[in-house]
Amino acid sequence: MNELDSMVDSATAAFAGAATPADLENAKALFLGKTGRVTELMKGMAALPVEEKKTRGAAINLAKQAIEAALNARRQALADAELQAQLHAEALDVTLPGRTRGQGGLHPIALAWERVESIFNSMGFDVADGPEIENDWFNFTALNNPPNHPARSMQDTFYVDMNDEQGQPYCLRTHTSPMQIRYAVAHVKKHAAAAVAGTPPETMPEIRVIAPGRTYRVDSDATHSPMFHQFEGLWIGENVNFKDLKVTFLNFCKAFFETGDLTLRFRPSYFPFTEPSAEIDIAFNSGPLAGRWLEVAGSGQVHPTVVRNMGLDPEKYIGFAFGSGIDRLAMLRYGVNDLRLFFENDVRFLSQFQ
Ligand code: DAH
Repeated sequence: MNELDSMVDSATAAFAGAATPADLENAKALFLGKTGRVTELMKGMAALPVEEKKTRGAAINLAKQAIEAALNARRQALADAELQAQLHAEALDVTLPGRTRGQGGLHPIALAWERVESIFNSMGFDVADGPEIENDWFNFTALNNPPNHPARSMQDTFYVDMNDEQGQPYCLRTHTSPMQIRYAVAHVKKHAAAAVAGTPPETMPEIRVIAPGRTYRVDSDATHSPMFHQFEGLWIGENVNFKDLKVTFLNFCKAFFETGDLTLRFRPSYFPFTEPSAEIDIAFNSGPLAGRWLEVAGSGQVHPTVVRNMGLDPEKYIGFAFGSGIDRLAMLRYGVNDLRLFFENDVRFLSQFQ
């Protein structure tokens, strides 16, 4: 192999060994650069006789062209490899399933809460909302709950270290019952304002409301949580009785549990704000809970003192109230046996309700 051929070979090998475009340019300089081997050979021709110059020059030119061709081929190969690597790195498989965030959904207690609202709404009940930090008057006193009643004890009630303008201590409401007073007072005021404006309706429209919301008690086990949910019901008019209460609550239960196959009973009880008072029990006549009496609400005829605290005459107005636990209804409806599951926020549990 002559000297020129071996130069072409070593150039080709040097180019092949260049892993990057920068390496390749360095390798190129060794052969085609100002002081590269081809350039040096050209310079060396100056000393040759004219005849030899011609043949030698043509041979060097051929070698130079071969080196340039090898260089360009390697340049192209490196560029192709770079493009392939980039395409590979940015590969997009359009057949893969998309990465979504998941749809999310309502918490089972929120679902139960919404059911309660829409069922009572469909029976003509307004839905009201009220404060969770409540004062002593609304939470206890106005509800005929005497100052030394056990429900007021420190063991049951979260007190807030603050009094209102009248010196009333604040607490976290222990039930939704204060909404009976708040709603009725606002209703009576609204009616009185209409009368003042010269458009008195014949009689005050009946009060028919439910008030769902968070409630708080110092209590915690499988069936009690320090924060829980209740809804209060109130129906006051001139001629409302226990039969209305029974029909209303029975219809609610049938709609809530989506079965007509259940029985409701009143069990005598005591609440300061009702007289007489009753617990409401229901029993499913079929299904996994069949035949067991389940307590679902406290209820009663609103006590005359409470009616008076609403700004109404107990000789004229009468009605009933009830209070029920949303969490307990959700447990029964969904067959959940530990209340704490609702508050652990384990997605595996929660996603079952979607
Ligand atoms: N507030 C009661 C409780 O939390 C439940 C209750 C009982 C509400 C009787 C009522 C009622 O409106 O009439 O235990």
